[in-house]
Formats: sequence, structure tokens, C-alpha cells
Amino acid sequence: MSTLSFADWMGSIQQRTETALGQCLPAATLLPTRLHEAMRYAVLGGGKRVRPLLVHAAGLISGAAPERLDRVSCALELIHAYSLVHDDMPCMDDDTLRRGKPTVHVQYDDATALLVGDALQTLAFQHISEAPVCDDPLQQLAMVRQLAIAAGSRGMAGGQAIDLDSVGKQLSLAELELMHIHKTGALIRASVCLGVQCGQAPDAAALESLDHVGKVIGLLFQVVDDILDAEADTATLGKTAGKDAANDKPTYVSLLGVSRARALAEELCQDALDRLAPYGDAAQRLAELTRYIVRRQF
Ligand code: IPE
Ligand code: IPE
Ligand code: MG
Ligand code: MG
Ligand code: MG
Repeated sequence: MSTLSFADWMGSIQQRTETALGQCLPAATLLPTRLHEAMRYAVLGGGKRVRPLLVHAAGLISGAAPERLDRVSCALELIHAYSLVHDDMPCMDDDTLRRGKPTVHVQYDDATALLVGDALQTLAFQHISEAPVCDDPLQQLAMVRQLAIAAGSRGMAGGQAIDLDSVGKQLSLAELELMHIHKTGALIRASVCLGVQCGQAPDAAALESLDHVGKVIGLLFQVVDDILDAEADTATLGKTAGKDAANDKPTYVSLLGVSRARALAEELCQDALDRLAPYGDAAQRLAELTRYIVRRQF
């Protein structure tokens, strides 16, 4: 059992992630400077770094080396940051505020925002493939493939397509769950699964149960995002509150109302915690992180 408080552990992972991201991104002085500056603007100096936190928490279960976890964390966070840049564009959610700053297309322009996304995504794959993240190169190849699937049309990008297609529609609970599991859940699930694979190879049963935990946390994360969009204020969120209703998006709040959405989040949290219980102290951080994701204020 670690003696570090959860808040201190979280701060230390956020700090090392910031350093690792700063090093893996091209310098703003490198040509083309405007693109590199915009990439750094999109990634650095903000964000809760939930995906890196999940990678590190999951890596503790399999005794993974922190440097390897940093590499996988950066890849996930680069893809996440790219997804936010594109998500905020006028052709998608049309948002002007992100992480307390003007969105990339507002600060720069639409074409730059598009290219920032393209370049962050490819940088993620460059980064995860240019040094070992586990002992077996074939396993690493499998991990790169898992990341590609999580980010692609069967994962995050596919979920975003469903999201855009659902504007103004009333979805069933099953349809809404499918959308959330893809648009947000896929990268979160991959964070848990890839973090575990950086360490001692887990057996198939352990991998399956941790995959389930990742899936549940992924859904839970977006349920809470929907609640915060409806309940929190813009200053706290660092992004414009109330945008889901304004854009006529189906969410857990529009379908169930805030209190039933909250109850569902608590239920999902308990499901994840129950699955983590057999791992005892090794899963302490992942359990704490799960609780944080439900109770977070932004
Ligand atoms: C926001 O993600 C977008 C969703 C996938 C719900 P985060 O809430 O993780 O955003 P940052 O990285 O902390 O800004
Ligand atoms: C975004 O979901 C999911 C992504 C893949 C970026 P939202 O559109 O709800 O995220 P926010 O609320 O703008 O952060
Ligand atoms: Mg969106
Ligand atoms: Mg959005
Ligand atoms: Mg949202």
C-alpha cells in the first residue's frame, strides 16, 4: 500500500505526463513553427490527464516500468487531445472554450486545427512504436494495433460519427450506451488494457476482467461528462456549460434526468470496484481513480 495520498499520486503522474508530452512534441521553433506551436497549445498546460492516470494505475497492477507507462500515456493523451481539437470545430460541436482557453480553431484557424489533429494522431503512433513499451516486440505490435482500433471507426472516431448522427434524435438507452462506449469509452478502455500490458504479461482471465473494468470506467466517464455539462458552470469546467442541450444532443441527462444518471454512475462505479477487489493493494490507485472519476467536479 502506497503512503502517498491519492491527490499527491495524481499530481505526480500529471507532472511527469506534462514533462513527457513536452519532450515528445516537436519544439515550437521547428518548421513549420505555426503548426508545432498549435500542437503544443492543444496538448500542454491543461487537462486532467485521466487517460495517463489510468495507464499508470493499471500498470501498477502488472508491475510495469514507469518510463514505459509514460510512453503509452503520451500516445493516448495525444490522440485524446486531437479528438478534442476536432470535436470543438464548427463542423462538430462548435465550441470556443477548452481547458479554460480559446479552442485551437479560434486561437489559430480551421485548417490549422485540422492539421493539428492529423499530426497529433500520427505522432501518437510514432511515439508508441519507437521504443519498447513491453518485453516482447510482437506484443508491442499487438498493442499498437489495439490503439489504432480504439481510435478508429470502430472506436472513438466511430463514436463521434454516431454522436453527430444523433443530433436532434431521441436514442434508446442501448443506443446511447453504444455511442458513449465508442466515442469516449474506447480510449479509456485502451488506457487500462495497454497500461496492464506494459508489465508482467497478465493471464487471459485477468486481462478480460481488467478489460471489463476499463469498459465500465469509459462509460462512467461519459455519463459524468453529460451530468457536468448540465450541472456545472463554464468557469469550473473550462469549457462552455450547457452545450449538449444547446446542440440538441441526446445524453444520459436528456434521457434519464440528472438523478437517475447519477445513480447509474454510482452503479457503474461499484461494478468496477467489485471487479478490482480481488487485486487488493495492487489495484489501489485504479480503485481510487474510479471513485475520483465519479465524484469529479470538472
Ligand atoms: C473530455 O475529456 C471529452 C470527453 C471524452 C468526455 P476530459 O474530461 O478527459 O478532458 P480533459 O483532457 O481533462 O480536458
Ligand atoms: C467528446 O464528447 C468525445 C470525444 C471523443 C472528444 P463531448 O463532445 O461530450 O466532449 P466535451 O464535452 O466537448 O469535452
Ligand atoms: Mg462531441
Ligand atoms: Mg464536445
Ligand atoms: Mg460533453
